[in-house]
Amino acid sequence: MHVHRTVDSLRKALKSAGTIAFAPTMGNLHAGHVSLMQQAHAYADTVVSSIFVNRLQFGPNEDFDKYPRTFEADCAQLREAGVAHLFAPDESELYPTPQQYFVQPAPAQDSILEGAFRPGHFQGVATVVTKLFNIVQPDVALFGKKDYQQLMVIRNMVRELAMPIRVVGCDTVRAPDGLALSSRNGYLTPEERSEAPRLHRQLAAIAEAVRAGQTDFAALEAAAVTHLDMAGWKTDYVAIRRQSDLQGAEPGIPLVILAAARLGNTRLIDNLEV
Ligand code: PAF
Repeated sequence: MHVHRTVDSLRKALKSAGTIAFAPTMGNLHAGHVSLMQQAHAYADTVVSSIFVNRLQFGPNEDFDKYPRTFEADCAQLREAGVAHLFAPDESELYPTPQQYFVQPAPAQDSILEGAFRPGHFQGVATVVTKLFNIVQPDVALFGKKDYQQLMVIRNMVRELAMPIRVVGCDTVRAPDGLALSSRNGYLTPEERSEAPRLHRQLAAIAEAVRAGQTDFAALEAAAVTHLDMAGWKTDYVAIRRQSDLQGAEPGIPLVILAAARLGNTRLIDNLEV
């Protein structure tokens, strides 16, 4: 695997790479990331990844500084998964001057759910992903469904801005007890880690109720919030939405149940398609 610290070095190497499948990351890789890299091989000649902890998508009180940086272990996993080129720029390479041009997602999609609790987050994601797309120029880009709203924003951005890229969403990888793999799981204490699968269990219970014909979505959402809060969580939202744009749900269309809740100091998100 070739590690590129500069845009120039990566661009030169990719000239003769054939078709490119790209899976960007912020590092601290787990089996979910590895699964993206493995799936990427089916879509193109060359698999490219990136590791860059993007300051633009973190709020002032979020975990940018303490976000786990595990570069050597990450490289070993990427090599093992057959990634040919890794782009791992410093901040000074990707943002040599403070970024002043931004990609602003549609307000209706940016202001809801995660966007309501993390103002500016999706603008930061859309901006860095656009920049990475311009640098890598992939044919296909792969993102995990764990960050469902991020995937929706990127899909819609690519379509509306006519970027010539096929976006592929990949299934969330879970621990045997159901907890969605996430770099932030590493923040959990042992007690919190054993409590954490409750989030997925709540989503699964709602999915079951929806499949069984329950249509009072507001009641299902409220019951799940109460249940989580009673178990010691601080729930930001549990929401049943339509998959395409995460707006209001109606029975009979493809739905997704999304949740975000804090366990101690760790904010977890998860979702389940129905
Ligand atoms: O999902 C992530 O790891 C990040 O949001 C991404 C897409 C790499 C952009 O920084």
